[in-house]
This record gives sequence, structure tokens and C-alpha cells, in this order.
Amino acid sequence: KILILDFGSQYTQLIARSIRELNIYCEIKPCLAPIQWDDTVKGIILSGSPFSVNDAGAPTVDIAAMAAKVPVLGVCYGAQLTAKVFGGEVAKSSIREYGRAFMDHGNKEEKLLYDISSRSQVWMSHSDTIVRMPEGFEIIAHTDNIPVAAFKSETVAKHPILGLQFHPEVTHSLEGKQLLRNFLVHICGCAQDWTPAAFVQETIEKIKAQVGDKKVVMALSGGVDSTVAAELIHKAIGSNLYCIFVDNGLLRKNEFENVLDSYKHMGLNVKGVNAKDLFFGELKGVSDPEKKRKIIGRLFIEVFQQEATLLTDISFLGQGTIYPDVIESVSVNGPSVTIKSHHNVGGLPEKMNMGLVEPLRFLFKDEVRRVGREIGISEIFLGRHPFPGPGLAIRILGEITPEKVAMLQEADAVYIDGLREAELYDKVWQAGTILLPVQSVGVMGDERTYEFTVALRAVTSVDGMTADWAHLPYEFLAKMSNDIINKVKGINRVVYDISSKPPATIEWE
Ligand code: XMP
Repeated sequence: KILILDFGSQYTQLIARSIRELNIYCEIKPCLAPIQWDDTVKGIILSGSPFSVNDAGAPTVDIAAMAAKVPVLGVCYGAQLTAKVFGGEVAKSSIREYGRAFMDHGNKEEKLLYDISSRSQVWMSHSDTIVRMPEGFEIIAHTDNIPVAAFKSETVAKHPILGLQFHPEVTHSLEGKQLLRNFLVHICGCAQDWTPAAFVQETIEKIKAQVGDKKVVMALSGGVDSTVAAELIHKAIGSNLYCIFVDNGLLRKNEFENVLDSYKHMGLNVKGVNAKDLFFGELKGVSDPEKKRKIIGRLFIEVFQQEATLLTDISFLGQGTIYPDVIESVSVNGPSVTIKSHHNVGGLPEKMNMGLVEPLRFLFKDEVRRVGREIGISEIFLGRHPFPGPGLAIRILGEITPEKVAMLQEADAVYIDGLREAELYDKVWQAGTILLPVQSVGVMGDERTYEFTVALRAVTSVDGMTADWAHLPYEFLAKMSNDIINKVKGINRVVYDISSKPPATIEWE
């Protein structure tokens, strides 16, 4: 495997994903954490960082010690840090280089540059520049503006040390993937054998070894992660996996029945629990978004625990935790603020005192889908839009009542079916309807109406961290507006949300 030491760059996860896409396993570690050395570590990558290497308190690591064991590649800050710690000089540059640049090199023999065009588009994001390379290092590429775009040393340590001033992990560095591949395959000697099939086989063996003939209980949500995780555990231990699927009354129209049915078809041992009344009861009169989330999170745990205690001899809790949830990121600006509390992360394990089985703990979302495909999970699960744990509760602004939920479920069904019919569903990352707490005047036939407004939301995104509103065709929006107002009693106005994230968020609460 490859270790990526994170110095706090916003692009660190992209490095990891690029490497995984090359079918090579890698893990992200906080830069200052001690490295756990073993035979599987084949190379180290030092990430970018919001720091300047000349800042007081800029994080630093012992690159010489690393290169005594494996090859090291520094990216941006990582490259500058390398230059600095070996005695070179890094300074604020007079020409700031952000965005597109062209890397020139004339070196066909250089392993890092195999198959890279002699002039190749790269993406820069730095205000410091390496102004003097340390002894024992040679420059292997430059750009029009800066002399050091790439460098290496084969003499200062047992293994090669290389540096790239730009970001090979972003798609705008057109041959970045090939550069990474060169480092990983030709310099570190990695085999590109980390495939979904290999992952599935290895994971099933691991689960068997961990769980043996003991029992696992797990909550299913209908989402991709919990479904893929459950199927992997199911493949490993069969009917010793007990699944619980809770109806909190806040799911999409017919979702509970349909999903429960699909789970049964997959051969999962699953119990559906109808807890609607409990949720509606406790949510009565509550309008504050964070309070709603807390109530739903707490009730979910209570229901799940109660169901779990009905089962005997359970030793493990299965969870669909994925890698972005567990990466310890380097906190550069102090602890990050809670914008919204996501109740599905954490919560269960501390309270339940059981071992954890988390087969997807090291996978990114797109890898979960690839694994799901490998083990034959239906596209109905794999292609599904994300849906928040608190469900429609955070799409009904203000107080939640069963009547409002029913109204929103109808509107949502018209919208989602409409997106599928128009073949737009797979073109957007997430879509849904929001019931606004305002009533407005309308006219239907000869009658004055005074009814609710529904907002339609559809966004494009890669990971939900940033998003843009989807530019859906006007004809489609017109049809949705008509269909919703005609079919859903209680709604007389439809609006389309054209806010991006940031500054808005995807959900309204
Ligand atoms: P926001 O609204 O923060 O949403 O832009 C980003 C993504 O997270 C989902 N989301 C949640 N998922 N529990 C969840 O499981 C939650 O409390 C929650 N809040 C937001 C949201 O649907 C979007 O995909």
C-alpha cells in the first residue's frame, strides 16, 4: 500500500481517489502521526497544505528517515518541504502561479515522466516557489514561470525522493494520473491488483475470521452503503446476520415496503419495524431543525436497541461506515464548526458495547458502488440518490404532521418519477422536494385557494461537499409544476431552488 501523509490540503482525498482508481490501495494519515511500518508500505506521498513551509509552526516530517525505507513523492507543499528540509530555499514568489500552467521536460528516460508529453498541462496552486534546490537534487521539469516544476534525488537517501510543484491529483493536470502511475508502478513497484473482485474476496475472508460463528446485528437504511455492507457480511456469515429496517414515517412514498421487499429478495434476514407513531408523537410541535435531528437520532437508536435486545447472543454490530467518515483530517484552523449534525455518523457503537464490523471503512463512495456491482446488487440501490437520515423531516420546514408528510411524499413521487421518465434522474446527483411553511393565494377553476408551496431541488455534485443547482430544462420544470399542482391536494404553487452550495446547503434544514 501507499501512505499519503496529509498536511491539510483540500485535495488530499483526491490523491487517494486517483491512486485507488489505478487499482492500488492507499491510506491517508495525519502528517504528524507516527508511521506504522510494515512490508506492505511501498511508498509515501506528502500532500499539499494551506501552510507555507516558512510559517512558524508549519508541520514538518523526517523525510530522510522515510526515504531510507521507501520512495517518497512530495506534492506542492510536500515538494517545498522536501526542498527545504534538505537545505534548499523556498520563498514567496514574485509571480504567483494559480491554475493552468505547462510543464516542459525533455527527459524521455526519467521514470517519473514516462509517457508524459514534453509540454503537458498541469494545475498549480501555490504562492511560494522553490528558489534553490538542495545539493544532490536535480530539476527534471519546469514551466514558463517557475524553474522547478518537478525534481528528484537518487543520492541523498537509499530510495528516490521526488517532488511535483503542481497538483497531479486534479483532473486539470491532464496527465496527472499517468505521473502518479509512474511513481507508484515504476518507482515504488506497486502492482495494480487492488480490484473490486480482490476486495470482495479479501473482505469476506476477513469478516469470517473476525466474526466466526457469532451473530451480527445491523440497521439498514435503503441507501447504498448499508446495503452493500450488509450483503458483504451476508456473503461471509449467511443467516447469522440479522438486519433491522426502521420505518420512521419520514421515508419516501412506498419506500419502506419496496425496499423491504428488495432486501428479502436478496435473501437478507431482515425485520421491518413500524415506528411511525413514535416518531410523529415526539416530533409534534417541534420546528427547530437541530432539535428535529436530535429527536430522530435518539429515537432511531432507542428503536434499534430495543429490537436488538429481542435477539439473543449478538456479539457484533454491522455498519456501513465509509472512508470519508473516518479519515482523521488535519485541523488547520482549529476544530471545525458543526454546520448540521449528521446523526448517522457515530452514536450507536459507544452505547451498545459490541464489536464493530465495518467492511466499507476504507472505501470511497464510488468504490462502494463498484463493489456493489461486483457482488450483484441491483442498480435500484446503486444508482439511488443520497437521502438524509432524518428523511422528509428536514424537508418540511416548521412543524411536522402526518398530513404534511403525506402531501410531500406525493409531490416527491411526482417529481422523482418525472425525473426518471425524462431520463434526468441519473444526470443529477440528488433531487427532492421541500414543503415550505407558507401558504399563498391561488385560483383553481372558479375557486380561490390558500395552499402550500413546494420547492423543487436538484443539484449536481461529486461528493455533496459542494454543489450547483441543476439546470433542468424549462419544459420539464413546467410539466412538474403542472403535475404536482394538479395531483397533490394542498399545494397550489411550485418554485425551483437556484442556490448553489456554498453559500446554501443541499437540504433546506
Ligand atoms: P447539506 O444539506 O449539508 O447536505 O448540503 C449534504 C448531503 O448530506 C445529506 N444530509 C444528511 N444525511 N443525515 C444524513 O444521513 C443528515 O442529518 C443529513 N443532513 C444532510 C444531504 O441529503 C446531502 O446529500
